[in-house]
Amino acid sequence: MIRVRGMHKSYRTGKLVTPVLHGVDLEIEDGEMVSIVGPSGSGKSTLLHAIGGLDRDYEGTIEVDGRDLHAMNDVELSAYRNRHVGFVFQTFNLLQHQTCAENVALPSLFARGKQVMSHGQALERAREVLARVDLSDKVDAAPTTLSGGQRQRVAIARALFNEPQLMLCDEPTGNLDSAMGAAIMDLFCRLNREDGITVVIVTHDPRIASATHRRVRVQDGRVLEDEGDDDLAATPRAEAAGEAKAEASADGGDERAEGTAEADDEERRAEG
Ligand SMILES: Nc1ncnc2c1ncn2[C@@H]1O[C@H](COP(=O)(O)OP(=O)(O)O)[C@@H](O)[C@H]1O
Ligand SMILES: [Mg+2]
Repeated sequence: MIRVRGMHKSYRTGKLVTPVLHGVDLEIEDGEMVSIVGPSGSGKSTLLHAIGGLDRDYEGTIEVDGRDLHAMNDVELSAYRNRHVGFVFQTFNLLQHQTCAENVALPSLFARGKQVMSHGQALERAREVLARVDLSDKVDAAPTTLSGGQRQRVAIARALFNEPQLMLCDEPTGNLDSAMGAAIMDLFCRLNREDGITVVIVTHDPRIASATHRRVRVQDGRVLEDEGDDDLAATPRAEAAGEAKAEASADGGDERAEGTAEADDEERRAEG
């Protein structure tokens, strides 16, 4: 669980002070899928970077699983970033002269202690995660030969390399057309639902945001829950599941068992 309390952040460039966040409170439960929306320059990336331990120059506290990120030393903080968090960015940040598998295996270079593995082990692990994002056929390909959507999936595989509990994604579909963006969102939904990974997605695209269960808005330096009555993702499915269940319990015998299982499955999917 992530708990941000009274976070304030200003950037200082020489004598110029740019206040960005003033009094952010936010809680994200384990296993949630949340989008963070808000206008350009409102501080979405700033907030995401702080949660991911990429920036500790802020006031207030950010606790992850009860541990205050400010209280961690450099070694603990980099272990948190490497093992707990997977980062996905708008620009895929792949090395062009390495294969997809080598790109995905990059986090192994930062491993310490028990996490250290041989090059062969790292490439084997890379193959596993590439399969997870449906790119088994691109293991030895160069990123330059892939589409934008495929490149982003390689970047997601790299983020998955160390089995993170938390994925922090900054405009992950910003460089993709809407079909590719939707496919990337499907993948995040699957990782959230099937692997229980907490997914936080910064986006300014309402269609992307509507695919998450919860939306929060960064506005005027604070975070507001987005009530949004156009809840496209979860609600209709949950309702459909409820109806299926009602119908199923009206029926008898074997059909009921089947109907309920389906409804349950549907409901789980809706709840993610
Ligand atoms: N390293 C930096 N130095 C100075 N100002 C910055 C820096 N990074 C971001 N800012 C400013 O902080 C504000 C919030 O930026 P950011 O978090 O990137 O917003 P968003 O991701 O919502 O577009 C913007 O006004 C931006 O110009
Ligand atoms: Mg940003």
